[in-house]
Amino acid sequence: MTRILGIETSCDETAAAVVDQDYHVLSSVIESSLDVHRDFGGVVPELAGRAHLTTISSVIERALVDADLDPLMPAIDAIAVTSGPGLVGSLLVGLSAAKGYALAWDLPFVGINHLEGHLFAALLDAPSMAWPVLTLLVSGGHTALVLHESPGVHQVVGETIDDAAGEAYDKVARWLGLGYPGGPVIDALASEGRATSLRLPTSMMGEGLDFSFSGLKTAVVRATEKNPEVSKADVAAAFQGAVVEQLMRKMRQALERYDVAGVAIGGGVAANSALRSAVAAIAQEYGIECHLPSRLVCTDNAAMIAAAGVYRWGAFGPSEWSLPATPNWSLGSLS
Ligand code: KG4
Ligand code: ZN
Repeated sequence: MTRILGIETSCDETAAAVVDQDYHVLSSVIESSLDVHRDFGGVVPELAGRAHLTTISSVIERALVDADLDPLMPAIDAIAVTSGPGLVGSLLVGLSAAKGYALAWDLPFVGINHLEGHLFAALLDAPSMAWPVLTLLVSGGHTALVLHESPGVHQVVGETIDDAAGEAYDKVARWLGLGYPGGPVIDALASEGRATSLRLPTSMMGEGLDFSFSGLKTAVVRATEKNPEVSKADVAAAFQGAVVEQLMRKMRQALERYDVAGVAIGGGVAANSALRSAVAAIAQEYGIECHLPSRLVCTDNAAMIAAAGVYRWGAFGPSEWSLPATPNWSLGSLS
C-alpha cells in the first residue's frame, strides 16, 4: 500500500496527514494559530511563521502516530508539502520540514500547489466520483471555476478579477465589527436576518465566467452608511445572498457550456451553509452528482495536500531538492 504524508503551513494552520493511494485518510491533525491573530483583524505573517515553527514537529509526529506508524521511521512512500501560494515565511517552515524529514528517512518529497490541494478535498469524501467534474474553488485568497477531466487534470475556466469570495466575507465582517475570520460569523448571523432588507447591486451579469467581489464590499459599506437602522443580521443576510447569487449564476453558466458528470466545491467558503444548499439544488436541477466535502476538509488541512501528492508524485515523480517556496503560484500555471 502506498502512503503519503502531507504537510500544510501556507497560512495559519499547521497541519499534517497521512493518506493512502485510494485517497483514504489514515490521520489528519490541524493546529491553528488563529487565536494569536484575532486581535489584529487578520493573519500576521511573522506570528504565523513562528507558530508553525513551534508546532510543526509535534503535528507531524501526531499524524504518524494516529495512522499507526512509527514516528521515528514511518512506513510511508513520499512526503507531499504545500510549496505555494501562501505566506512565504509560513511556507518555508513546512517546506524545510518536508525536506529535512525526507532526507532523514531517505524518501522523495513533492511540492504541492495549495489550490490544487483544495481541488482534491472532494475526492477524500468520494474517491470513486464520476468525471468530468466542475469545481467551484472559493477560499480566502482565491475564487475560481475549474473544469476537471480527471483528478489533477484541470483547466481554470473562470476566476475573480479582484477580491476572492472569502476576502469579501472577511472585509465585510471587519466593517461590521464581527472579528476575523468573517465567513463563519456572517454565515451564522445571516440565518437570523432578512436578505431583502438591504438592496445590493448584482455584479458580473455578463456571459463570462469571471467573478468580482470588491464592488459588493463597497456597496455594503455605502448601503449601511445610508441605512444605519438595518440590523447586522439583515446586512449579513443581504451580503451572503449577493455572494451566493453571483457564484451560482456563474456555476450555472459554466454548466450550460460544459457537459460534466458532477459539481464539487472546495476552499474555506465551501463550508458556507447557504452556498452548500445552493450547489446541491443546482446539481439536482441538472441531474448530476454533487460533492460537498465535509466542512473540516474545506478549510485548510493536510489531507487534501497528501491527496494531491498521490496524483503529482505518481504522475510526475519527486520534486528537486532546490524547490523554492512560491508565494504567488497560480493554479493556471500548473501542468
Ligand atoms: O481555504 P481557507 O481555509 O484558507 C485559504 O486558503 O484562504 O479559507 C479561509 C476563508 C476565510 O476568508 C473565511 O472567512 C472563509 O474561508 N470561511 C467561510 C466560512 N468558513 C470559512 N466563508 C463563508 N462561510 C463560512 N462558513
Ligand atoms: Zn486554503
